[in-house]
Amino acid sequence: MCGIVAYVGSRPAYPIVIDGLKRLEYRGYDSAGIATIEFDGSLLLKKKKGKVADLISYVGNSEPQGTIGIGHTRWATHGPPNDINAHPHRGSTDRLAIIHNGIIENFSAIRETLTCRGHNLLSETDSEVLAHLIEEVMSGSSLNLFDAVRAALSQVVGAYALVVIDKENPSSLIAARKSSPLVIGIGEDGSYYIASDATPIVSHTKNVVYLEDEEVALLDLNEGLRIRTISNDIISPEVHALEMEIESIEKGGYEHFMLKEIFEQPQSIRDSIRGRINLQQGELKMSGIDDHWGKWSNASRILILGCGTSWHAGLVAEYLFEEFARIPVEVEYASEFRYRNPIIREDDVVIAISQSGETADTLAAIKSAKAAGAHVFGVCNVVGSSIARETDSGAYTHAGPEIGVASTKAFTSQVAVLTIIALHVGHRKGTIAPERFTRLLAELNNIPELVEKVLEQAGRIDSIAEQFSRAENALYLGRGYQFPIALEGALKLKEISYIHAEGYPAAEMKHGPIALIDDDMPVIFIAPMDDVYEKVVSNVQEVKARGGKLLGIVTEGDKEVASLADHAIEIPRCDDALAPLLSVVPLQLLSYRMAVLRDCNVDQPRNLAKSVTVE
Ligand code: AGP
Repeated sequence: MCGIVAYVGSRPAYPIVIDGLKRLEYRGYDSAGIATIEFDGSLLLKKKKGKVADLISYVGNSEPQGTIGIGHTRWATHGPPNDINAHPHRGSTDRLAIIHNGIIENFSAIRETLTCRGHNLLSETDSEVLAHLIEEVMSGSSLNLFDAVRAALSQVVGAYALVVIDKENPSSLIAARKSSPLVIGIGEDGSYYIASDATPIVSHTKNVVYLEDEEVALLDLNEGLRIRTISNDIISPEVHALEMEIESIEKGGYEHFMLKEIFEQPQSIRDSIRGRINLQQGELKMSGIDDHWGKWSNASRILILGCGTSWHAGLVAEYLFEEFARIPVEVEYASEFRYRNPIIREDDVVIAISQSGETADTLAAIKSAKAAGAHVFGVCNVVGSSIARETDSGAYTHAGPEIGVASTKAFTSQVAVLTIIALHVGHRKGTIAPERFTRLLAELNNIPELVEKVLEQAGRIDSIAEQFSRAENALYLGRGYQFPIALEGALKLKEISYIHAEGYPAAEMKHGPIALIDDDMPVIFIAPMDDVYEKVVSNVQEVKARGGKLLGIVTEGDKEVASLADHAIEIPRCDDALAPLLSVVPLQLLSYRMAVLRDCNVDQPRNLAKSVTVE
């Protein structure tokens, strides 16, 4: 997810665009840039790795003076954060500049075609191809920029929110969107604003138009605002009056970033699987695996390293790899692994999981595994992060920036990507039944819609949270694929509500923890109708007999656990292996609401940091 800002009007664009980028840094902050059309007709472009503040320092006193400009603050998806990969991007000539938020799935094919036609692309990004493609369309026709952008985008597969400026048309901006947001602001003085959300616009005007998918807009000081679809249908702009305050807009109208990120999960999971599932051909695409297939096909063991929530994602992956790829898996806390002189073999494959890509213990553990000759595969959310650069290969989760300290969307994106990897390895090894593989692909592709159904129960979960919020302890219980979710649910509650919570395998209750049960103890059972359901029902009965306030996370239509528990939250039926992606969501919402009811600082809990870069 990146931040986009653009302006055309009678005032200098630079301060307007820079202020707008500062408001959008929550969307991405690894590099930033601005392009303006100056009074001498030149296209001036300044961009820099780092935050907006670094761009401002870089520009110094030589501030652009043009009254039309576009700006971008990046969250890298293709190509590490550096000056060249920063946006805006030019085409081959010095005429156009473009900023883009999204993922162009077919950018490699487009890049190859453009290179063959003499275009010299400088960056590693997918976005740069858009500038060259629009240029190529214009050079081969008499199309104006508005029509050329439409024609170019008809060749693009993927997601985009983009703005283009053309130094030969210094009074107009061209914008387009598909699956990435764009808001147009209409100034009282005839000026125009464009941004990824209303945050950079609301201080200038309250009159906005929300661009819809596959729409292209011309914002011209003389011609006004014109909107067409990619297929050239004319759209009448619908002007809305903004009512939100700036602060709430950054959080998308949510009270906290954590809640926003919980609700972003249908989209973040879509972005994580985008371009990796091909239902038509019934296959998965994971080049980070295929480029090193010899390591995976000969692996005698998979070691999974991580910390905290990432370690929990690794535990889910243990069940996935042992079921689908039939490779023995060991999941290790990175902090323990690195200090205990572990036995690492050259035919080990190590998977390192990290949202930030900067966790010191995980990075150190990776280095010791590499030193012993193991192949290390990274699953990270931050492109170009230390762990992403240290590993031999990897896959990005593309969950977008996660601001809340408690990891939510990054976790489900990690699990989604790990599911794809395990299925892909199993499919290539022939250790997964073809019909189950095909069914799982279709079900995984539909998970975002099922997560949306779970999120519809947020109100019910809030009312349960009110009954649990005064607890001092809590137990989370699950079996099989749901045991890691019990641990994750407990961690969520601990770290933001400061209630002591433990996750346990449900069967372990009889070996001690059941002594803890009393009438005040919330006990959360994660009990979907999977292949250990009957065993979990017995555990529920054992706990019920000893008191406790029971909450069951159950499959839609469940009667047994739902009748035993004091409360039940239903999740849609799905394959056992995919159920963690659904069952964790009610636990995220429960912990969030309990923390809010206890007046805790949900986004920045005490004693915690978003990335533990110290040992
Ligand atoms: C998760 O809610 C915590 N904030 C924490 O456990 C986190 O998962 C852990 O520090 C690992 O971080 P990483 O994924 O960035 O490596």
